[in-house]
Amino acid sequence: MKNNLIQLHDKQFKKFISREQIHEAVQRLGAQITHDYNANEVVFVVVLKGSIVFATDLIREVNLPCTLEFIRAESYGAGLHSSGNVKVAHYTGLDLAGKHVIVLEDIVDTGLTIKQLLIHLQEMKPASLKVATLFLKPEVCKGTVETHYVGFEISPLFIVGYGLDYNEIGRNLADVYILHEAP
Ligand code: IMP
Repeated sequence: MKNNLIQLHDKQFKKFISREQIHEAVQRLGAQITHDYNANEVVFVVVLKGSIVFATDLIREVNLPCTLEFIRAESYGAGLHSSGNVKVAHYTGLDLAGKHVIVLEDIVDTGLTIKQLLIHLQEMKPASLKVATLFLKPEVCKGTVETHYVGFEISPLFIVGYGLDYNEIGRNLADVYILHEAP
């Protein structure tokens, strides 16, 4: 790896957030959730595929009784920009009635995906419904959706790694990389 640059498909990406910084943020979020839910049981709804890495690390920082559910939401298609077209799918019967639910997202960009997901999940009448996202692009989503637990607020550039992909690759990178524009 030269100058912290990597190549994925046709684009170069530069090291942006280290695995140590991510670990610290995940620990902080885990401690906050443990504190806020005060020994109550929580259902974590993991948004596939990108949030899987964040979810596996975060749940091990949470000291509460908890269960896991998985949901699939697709908004990006192949490229760097949100399509605005959100499809929601889950594989098991999802019973969230009367439960404390936290949706685990990798990143909130325009907020369209999480907004659609929350509408879908709210119909299941949970006792409470909150969102934990590792990354938030506040300049893009402009407060259109409430995010209760946020790891990092970042600029509106495209990132990969730690579960996040560029056309399906890069999810396995332990650090997070940002799109590198040639000078
Ligand atoms: P939103 O609907 O615009 O908020 O986009 C949310 C989804 O788009 C995320 O769950 C990711 O799958 C994808 N996404 C948004 N920004 C990025 C990025 O910077 N890198 C990789 N995927 C992203």
